[in-house]
Amino acid sequence: MKDIKDLKVLIDSKTLNNRIKELADEINSFYGVNNPLTLICILRGAVMFYVELAKHLKMPVKMEFVTLSSYGNSEKSSGKIKAVNLAIPDLENQNALIVEDIIDTGLTLDFLLKFIKTNCKVQDVKLAVLFDKKCARKYDIEPDFSAFEVDDKFIVGFGLDYNGFYRNLDYVGYFE
Ligand code: IMP
Ligand code: MG
Repeated sequence: MKDIKDLKVLIDSKTLNNRIKELADEINSFYGVNNPLTLICILRGAVMFYVELAKHLKMPVKMEFVTLSSYGNSEKSSGKIKAVNLAIPDLENQNALIVEDIIDTGLTLDFLLKFIKTNCKVQDVKLAVLFDKKCARKYDIEPDFSAFEVDDKFIVGFGLDYNGFYRNLDYVGYFE
């Protein structure tokens, strides 16, 4: 178990929240405040970003949740998606926005995007991520809205975990 004493701050709480507010403004302008939006949270990592983002959205918003896991208890993706809960209602004639903590290889978002397009009769679906590890990408997928680009190192906090812990931190850090 790594010790929180060895966790170095990468992005502090104020910087995270300010940037999420900016991203919400971008999303408000893109969709327009009169067009309803279904926000789909990928649990558990996206939970902090999802809540913070949703607070600043001005259009009528519906909230949906899925639970996916690709990492298991390691710092590297297992290369397989475990769909723990994929119960999304029909999204007929709706605009949906998938909200994810971090896009790494792209496997998770590639999987969910294809699933939603095939099964939910959605009008339009886009991707919002808090972090983009661009240099780690293996799948041909790009987020439509992204708050921060990060290097290919393992980060924790603000939803992101190390062995299930540290998701509750209000900042993001890395172990040296
Ligand atoms: P991908 O499927 O390879 O794009 O990986 C995405 C998922 O892996 C994210 O939803 C995270 O749960 C997890 N992940 C990727 N990088 C990190 C990291 O640096 N810290 C914690 N979790 C990560
Ligand atoms: Mg995740």
